[in-house]
Order: sequence, then structure tokens, then C-alpha cells
Amino acid sequence: MTGLRPVTVITGASAGIGVALARVFARHGHELALVARREDRLRALAGEIAATGARMPIVIAADLARETAQKIGEALTAQGAEPQYLVNNAGFGLVGFAEKLDRAEQLAMIDLNIRALTDLSLAFVDSLARHKGGLLNVGSVVGFLPGPGMAVYYATKAYVLSFSEALHSEFKRRGVRVTVLCPGPVPTEFAARAGISEGLAPGILTQTAEHVAEQGYRGLMQGRRVVVPGMVNKLITTLIPFVPRWIVLAAVDARQSKRRSARGT
Ligand SMILES: NC(=O)c1ccc[n+]([C@@H]2O[C@H](COP(=O)([O-])OP(=O)(O)OC[C@H]3O[C@@H](n4cnc5c(N)ncnc54)[C@H](OP(=O)(O)O)[C@@H]3O)[C@@H](O)[C@H]2O)c1
Repeated sequence: MTGLRPVTVITGASAGIGVALARVFARHGHELALVARREDRLRALAGEIAATGARMPIVIAADLARETAQKIGEALTAQGAEPQYLVNNAGFGLVGFAEKLDRAEQLAMIDLNIRALTDLSLAFVDSLARHKGGLLNVGSVVGFLPGPGMAVYYATKAYVLSFSEALHSEFKRRGVRVTVLCPGPVPTEFAARAGISEGLAPGILTQTAEHVAEQGYRGLMQGRRVVVPGMVNKLITTLIPFVPRWIVLAAVDARQSKRRSARGT
């Protein structure tokens, strides 16, 4: 025993799905550590959660595209805490042809969506095992697809899916649950950051951040490997392997080119 208290660490907790996940974990009685760059937003959420009678969440302002898991671990230790659950939610995407998008920005996307997620996933296994906890990685429905017009983003989420499924199997022997949460479109700040105009995702695929967070929490606690919120999204991910790849590529290409023309690029 380390004498450190168990907390749930949630990255990307200053907006969107991360805020919803923080509220769900708090409602179920977990003490939280909130991580993102915008400290003012994290502090506001921490205050909101503390006002419900919960313990004041730890706030860690960090740019995960640059920081290491070791730094996050040190910040937690300084507060007398260590992870019981870790939610790797921080991430972003960019719409456009890979050759035209800024290369440094695309590499920063890999740093956040892949490098930081991998670093954090591996850094705290002993602590997750000690507290019989788990790891929730936020992937995407697009992780099941190749993504012309958003190539690097789709590829990062394919990594998250593959990596998390493998860890689900590897960490089982340590008693650590691993779930990958794969949402379809969710109205958050993601679209604006990616350069996607509002309203281009079909409503039938869209889920709220709250619903996605609930599904992710439940799936993690049940020890499920993959959670795809929404019946239609689930059906799509189930059928994709049976559709010829050239048809999948053409369909994604058409969707992204609609987004580019809406943006006038
Ligand atoms: N929205 C969707 O349609 C959708 C669908 C499938 C999967 N997802 C995935 O869901 C996750 C959450 O996305 P969202 O929709 O909630 O997007 P969002 O509203 O834009 O929130 C993204 C979160 O990531 C944090 N973040 C971004 N860059 C960061 C960095 N360098 N260091 C630390 N934190 C950083 C942001 O905080 P700061 O800016 O304060 O740092 C914010 O809290 C992402 O992994 C995304 O790929 C989203």
C-alpha cells in the first residue's frame, strides 16, 4: 500500500464528453482529478462538483501533447492521490487532405491522441491494479474506418481501438478493466476545432455527451471491451468488416468532401 488515495483521472475534462464523464464519475462517488489546458474551466467544473457535496476535484492544468505521464503522476502524488480509474478522453481531429493540412498540427494530434494516451495507459497499471480499477480510452466509430479527408484523425482512433482491445486482454491478468468507448458524432467543441460546419452529421447517428458518458461508465464497470453508443452506430461498426473496402473509402471520401465544400475549401 502506498498510503495514497484512489482517484479517477479524466483528461480533456474542460469541455464536451470529458465534462460529461466527470459528472457521471462524480455522481457515482468517485473522487476526481481533472486534466486539460484550460485551468479556468477545470476549476469551474471542480467547484460545481464540490457544490454537490463531493470532495473538491484535483485540477491539473497540462498540455498533454507536450507533458509526460510522469508529470501527471507527480502532480497526483503531491496531492496525496494515485489513479484508480484513468479516462483518456482528450483528443482532437482536423478536416482536410493530409497533404494540405499543417504537418506540425497533425503531428501534435498524434502526440495527444496516441502518444499521451499510450504513455498514460501504461504508466499507472500498478496503481489501477492496486485499487481494482480500470482504464477507459475514448476512441471513435471512425476508428473502424479508413478516413480520406481526415486521414490522420481516423488513423489515430484506429490505433486507440486496436491498442485498447489488446490492453483489455493483457491487463485482465492484473485484474484491471480496459474499455474503449467509440462514439459516433457528439455535439461538442470537437467540430469547431476540426473545422466541421454544424449540422453535417446525420441526426440518426448523433448522441449527446451525457448519453455517451453514461454508456462509457457502465461499459467500464461491466468490464466490456468495446462500447459503441447508439443502435445505428453499433450496427455500422458491426457491418463494416463485411463491406468491400473500396465502397467504405468512397463513402467516407464523399462525406468529408461535403464537409470541405461546406467550408469552401
Ligand atoms: N465530438 C465527437 O463527435 C466525437 C466523436 C467520437 C469521438 N470523439 C472523441 O472524444 C474525445 C473528446 O472530444 P469532445 O468531442 O469532447 O471534444 P472537445 O469538446 O473539443 O473537448 C476536447 C477536450 O480535450 C482537451 N484537449 C485538447 N487538446 C489538449 C491538449 N493538448 N492537452 C490536454 N487536453 C487537451 C480539451 O481541453 P483544453 O482545450 O482545455 O486543453 C477538451 O477538454 C476526443 O478524444 C474525440 O476524439 C469525439
